[in-house]
Amino acid sequence: MRSLRVDCIPQISEALSQDLAGKTVIVIDALRATSNIVTALSNGAVSVWPVETVAQAKQAAGANDLLAGERQCKKIPGFDLGNSPLEFTEQTVSGQRIVMTTTNGTRGIQKAAKAAAVLAGSMLNARACAETALQWKRDIVLLCAGTKDVFALEDGLCAGLIAKEIRELRVGDLQFSDFTRAMEGAYDSFADRLEDVFSTSDSGIRLGRLGYGGDVSFCAQRNTTDTVPILTNGEMRAFSPRQIFSYK
Ligand code: MLT
Repeated sequence: MRSLRVDCIPQISEALSQDLAGKTVIVIDALRATSNIVTALSNGAVSVWPVETVAQAKQAAGANDLLAGERQCKKIPGFDLGNSPLEFTEQTVSGQRIVMTTTNGTRGIQKAAKAAAVLAGSMLNARACAETALQWKRDIVLLCAGTKDVFALEDGLCAGLIAKEIRELRVGDLQFSDFTRAMEGAYDSFADRLEDVFSTSDSGIRLGRLGYGGDVSFCAQRNTTDTVPILTNGEMRAFSPRQIFSYK
């Protein structure tokens, strides 16, 4: 049997459609969009509908939906929620559909939309993402969102952790690209001070200055949930690694 390849793309503008076609793509925006989607679905949101623009979000949202998202890391005027996972509590999101637009994360999901499967990855659900992606037995792409077309360290470290989880599952013959291996090595070298590395990254500093230091610590937690958001008819819905066979 052919070996499965695990690739990592440093930021979304480097992703070409032929790199994603037919593959399982795990989109990563660790600070904060994909951590947020994971948190919303873990806390009982029915779905998160990622859209690119503020206008699209307003148009898409029905009367009972929650509008969420950011521009310049700040809540969009008139929206119900910003982009802080600490806002997405069970009390606020349970049973709700959320229409979300963020600068990079939701754009990454849109870019990957034509892949064979699209997952939202974060530190919070790294192991569950690895388990889920391997079950499809297709090549895997770790698509780091980055920030405005520039690589973001926290996304690379998250890709490194997911790659490490994939390696530790020891399923068949796996081939890791050079950049994937580099991210795995970077993760290993920072693993014992991850919260500090997150908060001193460019995104972490920016969020800290805006008063979102708590979000940075939250998003640096590892493997706290089994929830794997998977793009299903345009919306991210919650699955666990044991449930993917109910996904179509
Ligand atoms: C994004 O999608 O660009 C980020 O999640 C920005 C943020 O942290 O608000």
